[in-house]
Amino acid sequence: MSKTLFTLSLILLLIGCQNSTIVDKYAIIPQPNSISYNDDFLSINHGIAIESNYPDGMELIELLKKQSNKPGLTFDSQGATPFLLVYNPDLDEEAYQLQIKTDRIVIYSSSKAGWINGYQSFLQMWPVGEYDNIQIRCGEINDMPRFAYRGLHLDVSRHFFTLDEVKALVDQMVYYKLNKLHLHLTDDQGWRIEIEKYPLLTENGAWREHNNQDSLCLERSIDDATFAIPDHYYAIKEGKKLYGGFYTKADLKHLIDYCAQRNIEIIPEIDVPGHFKAAIENYPHLSCTGKAGWGAHFSYPACLGKASTYTFIEDVLTEVAELFPSEYIHIGGDEVNKDEWKKCPSCQAAIKKLKLKDEHELQSHFNHEIEDFLASKGKKLLGWDEIVEGGLSDNATVMWWRNWAPNTIRDAAKGGNDIIVTPDFEYYFDFPYSATPTSKVYNFEPVPDDFTVDMANRIIGVQGNVWTERIPNTKRLAYQVLPRMLAMAESGWTNQELKNFEAFEERLKSHYTYFESQGLFYHLPEITGFEDKTVFTNVSSFQLTIPDSEIEVYYTLDGTAPDRQSIKYTGAIEIDKSCTIRFRAYKGKVFSKIYSADYIKQSPAQPVVVDAKSGLKRRFYKGRYWKSKDVPVGKSADAEVVVADFGLGQYDGQENYALVFDGYFKASFDGVYTFYTKSDDGDQLFIHEQLVVDNDPSHGPRGRKGAIALKAGLHPLRLIYCQIGGGALQEVYVQVPGQKKRKVTSDELFN
Ligand code: ACM
Ligand code: ZN
Repeated sequence: MSKTLFTLSLILLLIGCQNSTIVDKYAIIPQPNSISYNDDFLSINHGIAIESNYPDGMELIELLKKQSNKPGLTFDSQGATPFLLVYNPDLDEEAYQLQIKTDRIVIYSSSKAGWINGYQSFLQMWPVGEYDNIQIRCGEINDMPRFAYRGLHLDVSRHFFTLDEVKALVDQMVYYKLNKLHLHLTDDQGWRIEIEKYPLLTENGAWREHNNQDSLCLERSIDDATFAIPDHYYAIKEGKKLYGGFYTKADLKHLIDYCAQRNIEIIPEIDVPGHFKAAIENYPHLSCTGKAGWGAHFSYPACLGKASTYTFIEDVLTEVAELFPSEYIHIGGDEVNKDEWKKCPSCQAAIKKLKLKDEHELQSHFNHEIEDFLASKGKKLLGWDEIVEGGLSDNATVMWWRNWAPNTIRDAAKGGNDIIVTPDFEYYFDFPYSATPTSKVYNFEPVPDDFTVDMANRIIGVQGNVWTERIPNTKRLAYQVLPRMLAMAESGWTNQELKNFEAFEERLKSHYTYFESQGLFYHLPEITGFEDKTVFTNVSSFQLTIPDSEIEVYYTLDGTAPDRQSIKYTGAIEIDKSCTIRFRAYKGKVFSKIYSADYIKQSPAQPVVVDAKSGLKRRFYKGRYWKSKDVPVGKSADAEVVVADFGLGQYDGQENYALVFDGYFKASFDGVYTFYTKSDDGDQLFIHEQLVVDNDPSHGPRGRKGAIALKAGLHPLRLIYCQIGGGALQEVYVQVPGQKKRKVTSDELFN
């Protein structure tokens, strides 16, 4: 504790001011780019009184007051602390300087955006709780964003969110200095924006009987209320109860204004020519066959061989461009089922007539036409990174999302196109936290390290995406977004060298308290210390690491979903028989997913007695096998040799094959052995014909583990590995009882 702080605490103690608090350090997210403190404190007893010398100052002040959802923060009472908004033309757009002085607070800025940003930093200093006196450490923040575009995407098609629900999300975006809301307004599962020329788009296209996404949510809601579909998303239409909703133009105008007042621009997306089923169902002439439906992966796209398709899409975009003041209109362009175009005489005739090479170029031609059309309306085209394929025009802006298409971001950067970084593996907030933990979001650096300065300058920002197939309500939405949105916001705002995940996590604590004070649901920090699966021979122990003393854990042993009526976890539990423990964390009204820990009691497997030689038999099968079970292990192989160890050997660099390793693993002593495989594109490891590690089906580089109790001696082993294409990796590790994990060595392998 500093000397001043000590004195201050003493004074407060002596004057008996119980209901007081001290803010000694600013826990601001995103981390400001410069903070300096001094030893003085500002004492606030009667709230604040905001004044401005800005021309539209009054309007701004009213907005800031409205946005001030901190308990205890009052305005304009007698003795209120002056809070000045001062114009400083030397500061960049969105930049601000926030000064906490002993007698006042000042925010300097050259724009409304800067004051709004500075005010968020102040609001985040304001402690949660009702206090008569708040002591804030004096200091100065000089801050401006790293990237101009800091966005959040919301898919309102797969599941709908009302205007008020979107506004509540916008309020959180403002608090974390995000400035773009990308609204995914149309997709196969629902059309959500009123288009006057084509009323069926919303009259029918905004409503549906339950689809497989709704059924999945309802099934999950049995054990987890965050998957429930609330009644307000249903309407009775012609006697049928239908799910859905849409925004009228007046609704959207209201939302646009609401966002604009708060320095947020809405980027509307009309996804074409794929993800267009909701339109095709109501205007069937738009598809190649006059039908709506699904191909192997994606829905039938719009037919790009018919002039009427272009007219329809341009009509829609005309109304969108008139409504939204944004610089960009997003036209999607992702995941198009181009097989339909291959079969379509109109599309093929267009390819021939326009002298295009293939269907990729047909989409590129369409993009160029739409881009020119948007330019005539004063708008710029934005699209998912598929728009790079088949050729990109100079002015298009690309949202890079496919980690597995790394060339698209490089081609776009080299071509001088602006890029927004929104990668599937790091910035898709619909993914479970197990796949995309907050740390992974935080630690992702948006500018690839091989980029030149010119290429890096093409990256204008970052965006988190919220696809809502499995997000049917605002509670689930908050769970998926908070706190990952904060981690991404920090990457968008804070300079790379100031970022530090541990420091972020420390600051995050007061933001959890803020969420609780706002009644916001969120993802609790993870419970750790347990294994998904534990193999044991005698007794084992179930013990948890709980990250917050206010978190309570309840569990069941009978397979039912745990709730607050279940057994309360109070410390380590001894396990002496096979069981599954299901448990859940609770903090106030917030709860976690259901965790599960399997305990499997095994008698150690007896070794086999064989005359074995060193090495493993490795069989090679040519072919495209997606899963280990597809490999014809019973059939004769295309090649067979004995090898000393696991690994790809001479097949490294080849594609479309499988390897089957057969032999014995030698256990040196009795105990539980944990095996780990690392694989790209997938494998399964069997011991005594028992599946021990399941690292299937095909995927990018990934590790999996499993355990088995073994007696000392030789144990039959089989590993099946599949290679489809792209990256390749095949490694096996073991953790021998009492030792550290290490690679399996050739002296443990026999055949
Ligand atoms: C996308 O995730 N299809 C852009
Ligand atoms: Zn066609």
